[in-house]
Amino acid sequence: MSPPVRDLRRFAPALIRWQRESGRHGLPWQGTRDPYRVWLSEIMLQQTQVAAVIGYYDRFLLRFPDVRSLAAATSDEVMAQWSGLGYYSRARNLHRCAQQVVEIHCGVFPVQAAELEQLPGIGASTAAAIAAFCHGERISIADGNVRRVLSRLLAFGGDLSAAGPQREMWDLAQSLLPASPVPQDMVAYTQGLMDLGSGVCSRTRPSCEKCPVADLCAAKHQGTTDRYPVKTRKVARRHESWWLLVLRRSVAGGSAQVWLERRPAKGIWAGLFCVPVLADEAAALAVAGVDPAAAQALPAVSHALTHRELRLHPVLVDVAPGGPWPVSTEGQWVALDNLAACGLPAPVRALLERLPA
Ligand code: ADE
Repeated sequence: MSPPVRDLRRFAPALIRWQRESGRHGLPWQGTRDPYRVWLSEIMLQQTQVAAVIGYYDRFLLRFPDVRSLAAATSDEVMAQWSGLGYYSRARNLHRCAQQVVEIHCGVFPVQAAELEQLPGIGASTAAAIAAFCHGERISIADGNVRRVLSRLLAFGGDLSAAGPQREMWDLAQSLLPASPVPQDMVAYTQGLMDLGSGVCSRTRPSCEKCPVADLCAAKHQGTTDRYPVKTRKVARRHESWWLLVLRRSVAGGSAQVWLERRPAKGIWAGLFCVPVLADEAAALAVAGVDPAAAQALPAVSHALTHRELRLHPVLVDVAPGGPWPVSTEGQWVALDNLAACGLPAPVRALLERLPA
C-alpha cells in the first residue's frame, strides 16, 4: 500500500529546503569547492563517523595542504597521519590517488564523476559526492545510508546485498534528483541525503517525526520502516585471539622504548608498525625468552574489523637494557614519547600510551 497522493517530484525540493534550514552547515569540509579537500573528507568519512574524522582532517591538511605535498610524501608519513582512523587500505589508496592526480592529471582532479571513479579508492558514490559538491554535477550518491533512506521512501524490496538490485536502486536514486539544479542545489541535495541518513532515517528507530519527506515515504505509510533496506547477506565476523607482546626497556636519562615491527604488506594492519603478534601466550613468552613470572598480563580488549572480531591480550615484559632481545626479529626500538611519528593501529597506540609504570 502506497501513500494516497505521492508525487515524488516533491522529494528533491523538500530535501533541499530542509537541508538549508535544518541540515548540517559548519563541518570543516563544507563551504569549500576545492576537490582536494572534498575528496580527502569523503575518503575519511567512508566507514567513519563525522566526530572521529574532524580532528584527523584538520591535522592532515596542516601536514599535507595540497595534492602535490601528499603525493610527494613517503607512505610512512601518510600512514602516521592516518594512524587511528582504521581501514588502512583507504590511506594507501589515498596516497596512490594523489600520485596519479599529479602524474596523470597535472595535479588537477578530474571534474566528472565518471573520470573520478577511475582513480584508486574512489568508488561510484564517492565520485558522485565530489562531483556534486565541487561542480554541481547532477548525479546521486548511493552509499549505505542513502540506500536505506531511499529503500524506505520507495518501499524497495530488492535485496541490496546483490549487484542487480543495487544498480536498480542507483537508477531510482538518479530519477529522484532535482529536475534542473544550479550547483548550489546539488550541494544542498547531496548534503541533505547524507544528513537525513545519518541524523533522521537511522537504521533502528528512525525519527520520522523530524523527516521532511515523511509524507512521501511508502514505508512510513505502511508502518514497515524496520523492513528496509532488505539485505540477505550479513557480514560474518570471525573471532580470533591475538597476544600482543610489549617488550619495554628503560633508557638512562630518556623515555622508555618499546619493540615495534612492521606488519606484513597484506592483511590486517598491513604496513603499520605494531608490537609482535603471537597466537597464544606460550608463544609470546617463548619469543620474549622469559618465564611467566617475568611477564605481566594486561587487560584484554576487543577490536572489531570488517570481517574479524579480535580479542587482544597484551603481555608486558620489561627487558634489561642491553639484554639479548632482539635476537632475530626484524624491528626496532622506538621511544614511547615518539609514537606520534609512527603509523600504529588505534588499539595498539591506546595500549602503548597507557602502559603501567
Ligand atoms: N558522510 C560522507 N560524506 C559526508 C559529508 N560530506 N558530510 C557528512 N557526512 C558525510
